Amino acid sequence: MIKVENVSYKYKNTNHKVLENINFSVKDGEIIAIVGQNGSGKSTIGRLIAGISKLKEGSIIIDNLDIAKNKNYKLIRDKVGIVFQNPENQIIFNNIYDELSFSLKNLEKTEIENRVNTALEQVGMLSFKEEDLYTLSLGQKQRIVIAEVLAKNPKYIILDEPTTMIDSQGKEKIYEIIKKLKQQGYTIICITNLADEILLADRTLILDNGNIAYEIERKDLIDKAYILDKFGIKQPTLLKILTELKENKIALELKEFTISELVNSLKGKIINEKSN
Ligand SMILES: Nc1ncnc2c1ncn2[C@@H]1O[C@H](COP(=O)(O)OP(=O)(O)OP(=O)(O)O)[C@@H](O)[C@H]1O
Ligand SMILES: [Mg+2]
Repeated sequence: MIKVENVSYKYKNTNHKVLENINFSVKDGEIIAIVGQNGSGKSTIGRLIAGISKLKEGSIIIDNLDIAKNKNYKLIRDKVGIVFQNPENQIIFNNIYDELSFSLKNLEKTEIENRVNTALEQVGMLSFKEEDLYTLSLGQKQRIVIAEVLAKNPKYIILDEPTTMIDSQGKEKIYEIIKKLKQQGYTIICITNLADEILLADRTLILDNGNIAYEIERKDLIDKAYILDKFGIKQPTLLKILTELKENKIALELKEFTISELVNSLKGKIINEKSN
């Protein structure tokens, strides 16, 4: 479990706090989406939890590790992996094996190989193992970066706008990976500006003016989608459709929030009405 308590943050060269008394927790196995307008402090939270930025005010507790008290940031980085928007900025090598094994150097060779293969498998890139990284698409490179994080065996994964730069086909592949990782038991924080990523989350936190202004649970997504509008966050198209249907007395209960689920659910309703 991750517990963020009364966290505030101010950058050295600015006067105002970018985060002000933030409180939230992330349960094991959950996917949390953090949304908010540009500059609302999403990445700052991600970097604090990942132990990249130094916590100054409040506390962040990751399982039994208290970031404020723990001077050993390596322990935190072992538990929490982070992936950023642009894979080009995270890739150092041209060879995929070199890239994935770089931070595993003190492990035994067979263990490194196992981890690299498993991680590549998890992101559907095992068959690309011998390819040069520069030949891959941006989406494929992002999957390699996710694999690199997975190879370090983290429990928590923070994705900071993981698909913002990726084409729509590549986005879908990454969404599938995120869903699979949840099934495998990873706990995921997805920082996002993209409406569709909200559909993956168990809970969505809306960040506004340095505060968590609202929290929407997955089960309330249809009823509370209007709140996203209030904070200037684009609604997933699927949610708009579901809301309109509900307003027209066609209430559908979706679990996966996919188009095929929507179609099947509608089909079910039509067949039911015909037989009544
Ligand atoms: N290194 C820094 N020094 C000073 N100010 C910073 C620094 N990094 C971020 N900021 C400021 O802090 C605020 C929050 O930034 P942050 O990157 O956390 O927001 P964000 O919600 O991730 O934005 P975006 O949607 O653009 O990624 C912004 O006003 C930003 O300009
Ligand atoms: Mg950001």
